[in-house]
Amino acid sequence: MQDLDIVILAAGKGTRMRSQIPKVLHTLAGKSMVQHVLDTASELNPTRTHVVIGHGADQLRAALAESAVSFAVQEEQKGTGHAVAQAQPQLGNGNVLVLYGDVPMIRRESLTALLSHVDEQHMGLLTVTLEDPSGYGRIVRNDEGEAVAIIEQKDASADQLAITECNTGIMAMTSAQLKRWLPQLSAENAQGEYYLTDVIEMAANEGIKVCTAQPASAVEVEGVNNRAQMARLERAYQQQQADKLMEQGVALADPARIDIRGKLTCGHDVFIDVGCVFEGDVELGEGVHVGPYCVIKNSTIGAESAIDGHSVIDSTVAAGLNQIGPFARLRPGTRLAVKAKVGNFVETKNADVGEGSKINHLSYIGDARLGRDVNVGAGTITCNYDGANKHRTDIGDNAFIGSNSALVAPVTVGKGATIGAGSTIAKDVAEHALAVTRGRHLEKSDWPRPVKKIK
Ligand code: UD1
Ligand code: CA
Repeated sequence: MQDLDIVILAAGKGTRMRSQIPKVLHTLAGKSMVQHVLDTASELNPTRTHVVIGHGADQLRAALAESAVSFAVQEEQKGTGHAVAQAQPQLGNGNVLVLYGDVPMIRRESLTALLSHVDEQHMGLLTVTLEDPSGYGRIVRNDEGEAVAIIEQKDASADQLAITECNTGIMAMTSAQLKRWLPQLSAENAQGEYYLTDVIEMAANEGIKVCTAQPASAVEVEGVNNRAQMARLERAYQQQQADKLMEQGVALADPARIDIRGKLTCGHDVFIDVGCVFEGDVELGEGVHVGPYCVIKNSTIGAESAIDGHSVIDSTVAAGLNQIGPFARLRPGTRLAVKAKVGNFVETKNADVGEGSKINHLSYIGDARLGRDVNVGAGTITCNYDGANKHRTDIGDNAFIGSNSALVAPVTVGKGATIGAGSTIAKDVAEHALAVTRGRHLEKSDWPRPVKKIK
């Protein structure tokens, strides 16, 4: 296979973001912009990937520590050509593709199209025609319609400013071409910068054809310079994901009001109401119904389950036919067997809830195992923490926990046992026994209330 180097420019400051975080680390759908670019880049199976860093270099190194990239440091930002030159010593002898860390929505298809043109006699340039081209470099074509130069906005004549075909910045060429051209760049222009865009004219002068390609949509090559553009791109990205889900048969109450920050996989006939956020890897089985304003992270929800509004679910596995919420909070390690129910204002953590068991209202169940068909009354608390260590609660099949009970762990409630409402259970309860620890009911008939003394 052809040797390929991908160079990602990410040294700029991003002043207009008004942020302490380097621009390319700002997130789109929960993932940094530069990571989006890296993920797309890796689909091309490059031999090497280089990230040119400068502003916030340490933060970038830390954020990308797990990635198979090499860094090239650009101490001073002297332009895009100067930036690419910093990676030059590390380049191989095949092709080179230049990408931008702040252009996160670029698609693989556009890049492979660009690379397909590259050889000794050709290079590739991704251009886009914009209604409002201001700020962009303009593509100058000769009488034969061939691209022969890119003129930056600040260097352009009135005629050139009227050109609407713009430079996306993304280009591909052979390593030999690039190595020949980079040393020839000069900073004699309006911005006093080494423009990478000047290589187009050099190519044309050498008789090397500049093959242009356009992305499927302009949003693919949109760069981010400020928060407003960031937010616009986020909406565009979310809309794309919503469209994909609907194509797959998912019913969305409003495709403009769903946020997927990771990967959402859905079975047939899933319905998702407005305002839901999905993070990490989430799987929703067939016929799952998600109510409004739910947050679901790294979880698997089995078929025919209903999650009612305002529920927050993290690292949970629900087997199917479950009823969750409204206002339920399922924390990491929650496992619901088939038909288990977790109702309003219930918090679970590290809890196995058996088949058909119900925790319907206002309870905390943590570090616990519940057998099948257990009924947990309102206001039940597993007291799992003694201030130093966590302890487990084990509740057998068919047990009935009366309302407002405290189960002081470690403790076991046997199968079929009953806990009277309002009990504090600190000792194991035998199978089929009744345990009640509340004070006895005392009653005095016709009891005279004390009256205030008059002085
Ligand atoms: C550049 C192009 C312009 C194109 C536009 C598309 C040049 C000279 N101009 O202009 O034709 O239409 O992108 O958005 O290439 N960077 C560095 N080091 C530097 C300078 C820039 O790493 O010294 C990085 C920035 O972090 C950014 C990218 O390169 O990710 C583009 O830089 P920017 O200054 O935004 O270029 P533009 O002036 O917008
Ligand atoms: Ca820019």
